Formats: sequence, C-alpha cells, structure tokens
Amino acid sequence: MPDNVSVITGASSGIGAAYAERLAARGSDLLLVARRGDRLEGLADRLRKAHGVEVETLVADLQEARDLRALETRLETRPVAMLVNNAGAGGLGPTALKGADAQERLIDLNIVALARLSLAALKGFGEAGRGTLVNIASVVAFSPSAGGAAYSGSKAFVLNFTRALQMEYEKSDFRIQVVLPGPIRTEFFSSQGMDDSVFPAGAYVTPEQMVDAALAGLDAGEAITIPTLVTPSIWDDMEAVRGRFLGDVIGGKVAARYLGQAG
Ligand SMILES: NC(=O)c1ccc[n+]([C@@H]2O[C@H](COP(=O)([O-])OP(=O)(O)OC[C@H]3O[C@@H](n4cnc5c(N)ncnc54)[C@H](OP(=O)(O)O)[C@@H]3O)[C@@H](O)[C@H]2O)c1
Repeated sequence: MPDNVSVITGASSGIGAAYAERLAARGSDLLLVARRGDRLEGLADRLRKAHGVEVETLVADLQEARDLRALETRLETRPVAMLVNNAGAGGLGPTALKGADAQERLIDLNIVALARLSLAALKGFGEAGRGTLVNIASVVAFSPSAGGAAYSGSKAFVLNFTRALQMEYEKSDFRIQVVLPGPIRTEFFSSQGMDDSVFPAGAYVTPEQMVDAALAGLDAGEAITIPTLVTPSIWDDMEAVRGRFLGDVIGGKVAARYLGQAG
C-alpha cells in the first residue's frame, strides 16, 4: 500500500504552498520540495501544528540532475499517494535578451523535471496499484506570446504529455489530472523582476481559489481542470474543432493550395 504522502514540488510559495495547506487539511502527510529550505520548514511547522500531519521537507534544485534523480528514486521506491508536479519557472522576456542557456534551464525544470518525476511516480504507483498524478500546466498552453516562447511551449508540452499519459493509463486505477491555471497572484511575476500588471488587476485569482477549484475538479474525476474557465462549452467547442482538424489533416492528400502548376 502507498504511504499516505502527497509530494508537492515548488511548495515554498504560491500554488504549491496552497496545495500543501489544502492537502494537509484533508489529512494527507506531505513531502514538500523546493530550493528555499527556510520557507519549507516554516510551512511544515505550521501545517504539523494546524493539522497534525507528518510533513517532511526536501531541499532540491530540480534543474540539477543529482537532486532530480534523488527525488525520482524516492518516488519509484517508496510509492506515494499523490504527486503534484507544480514547480515551474516563467523565464519571461525576449528570447534574444534571455539567451539560449536561460531557455534551456526553463525547459529543464518545466519539461524535463516534470516528465521524469511523472514517470517515476507512475512507476511507484505501479508497485502500489494506485496513486494520483497532478501536473500543473497553464492556459498559455493555448496562447503563445512574444516573450513567452519557452514558457508557453513548455506548458503546451505539459498539457499534451499529460493527456497522452491519461490515454496510456486509462485502464489503470491511477488518477492523472492536468490543471491549467489562468493568472494567479503569486510570486511568479515578482521572482522574474516583473510586476503583476502583466494582466489587469481583476484578471487574477488567489492560489487558494485556484487549488480549491483544482481539488474540486479532481474529486469530480476531471482529467483536465481549468479553474477560471467560466463557460465550459468553450472547451467542448475547442475539442470539436480539434476533432475536425485531425479528421482533415489525416486525409492522405496534400491541400490543393500547395499543388500549384505541378498539381
Ligand atoms: N502564477 C500564475 O499566474 C500561473 C499561471 C499558470 C500556471 N502557473 C504555474 O504554477 C506553478 C507554480 O507557480 P506559482 O505561480 O505558484 O509561482 P511561484 O510562487 O513563483 O512558485 C514557484 C515554485 O517553484 C519552485 N521552484 C522554482 N525553481 C525551482 C527549482 N529549480 N527546483 C525546485 N523548485 C523550484 C519555487 O521554489 P524555490 O524558489 O524555493 O525553489 C516555488 O516554490 C508553475 O508551474 C507555474 O508555471 C502559474
């Protein structure tokens, strides 16, 4: 049987800290992961006292292969009840200014670490026979923007990667959810030297509102949860268009507009 442990990456602030609070309130033991150990310890102390749960902390830089492998091993060998793959970086700004190394580091965290930890958790779930994987993407998975090349690309990866895993594990007892937050008032922008005026003030929800909605979606058995999507029929329309698109591009012929004279 798996431990009653939920592992949350990026638990030292924002959405990850809100997951820690809400899962502790539900009685889950926790393993909190991030680089800032003082933040993790402060949160862990508070949650132990408030909720009587066991809380372990792990100071790890998930952009470093050694730290990442250590967490993978832990997930594979001591199955956990839940992994919330939340740690992520924005790296927002023009690619020419940010440079290739910064883009690669973002990819290391938002794509490589998330993918490796997902696979490690699934391996652990296989040993235990059950488990829940939650991957945090973003609504920008559908919205490329200048200054967000690697970020929106990475979140599109999280979306498609997780949806594909859901298909692979459809017949298992594992639960796999992908969450697409809109703008959330966290340190996400300030930690990149930006202010929250990237979006109008009214565009933000709190991390607690986001996590409560995501957990409600999980409880309802949702595979994809978009907490601020107020008109769900828009998603149904997008899925219908996606189906039409796929039907059109797998027709075995090149479009007439590209055939020119030769066609
Ligand atoms: N805020 C938004 O508007 C928004 C919208 C959509 C999606 N998201 C996504 O939500 C997730 C959480 O973001 P947030 O808004 O809560 O931002 P945040 O407050 O800045 O939190 C980011 C977390 O990731 C951790 N982290 C960053 N680099 C790390 C590394 N190399 N190794 C380990 N942990 C690392 C940080 O902890 P340390 O610095 O202590 O390591 C922190 O706990 C991200 O995946 C983000 O892309 C955010």
